[in-house]
Amino acid sequence: MLNGRPVTARVAPTVALLEMVRERFSLTGSKLGCGEGECGACAVLVDGEAVLGCLTPAVDVDGREVRTVEGLRDARGLSALQQAFVHEGAVQCGFCTPGMEVTAASLLAEHPHPSDEQIRRGLEGNLCRCTGYVAIIEAVQTAAGGSR
Ligand code: FES
Ligand code: FES
Repeated sequence: MLNGRPVTARVAPTVALLEMVRERFSLTGSKLGCGEGECGACAVLVDGEAVLGCLTPAVDVDGREVRTVEGLRDARGLSALQQAFVHEGAVQCGFCTPGMEVTAASLLAEHPHPSDEQIRRGLEGNLCRCTGYVAIIEAVQTAAGGSR
């Protein structure tokens, strides 16, 4: 399942999940940053858990549910989390944003009302080269309906 719909693909064992979603399915929200597991720009959800698309073999998700940043939208448009990123000015160049939002979505599913510390720990694998971390943390708190 990819963003809620069944899909099939034949891929070589060396193809990464990120490459598959971007190039086979034209879902280009997830980004290739470092390509070696350091930045989180490639994060996608597999069975609700954020994983690094650059390091995850595409063949590993056979029969599983994958959700990319495009799949965070709901029927009305941007999700509450995505709207919070806009509202809090948590997007600068936007390169880290898909990975941040996907990882934050996973965090909020596990901790609906996270503390700042939980948010920091949850997003510690996601780097923002624009260094907009404060606004990103505020956006996650806003989405959770929590206080700053
Ligand atoms: Fe995957 Fe940086 S591109 S962690
Ligand atoms: Fe530019 Fe985070 S907004 S990398």
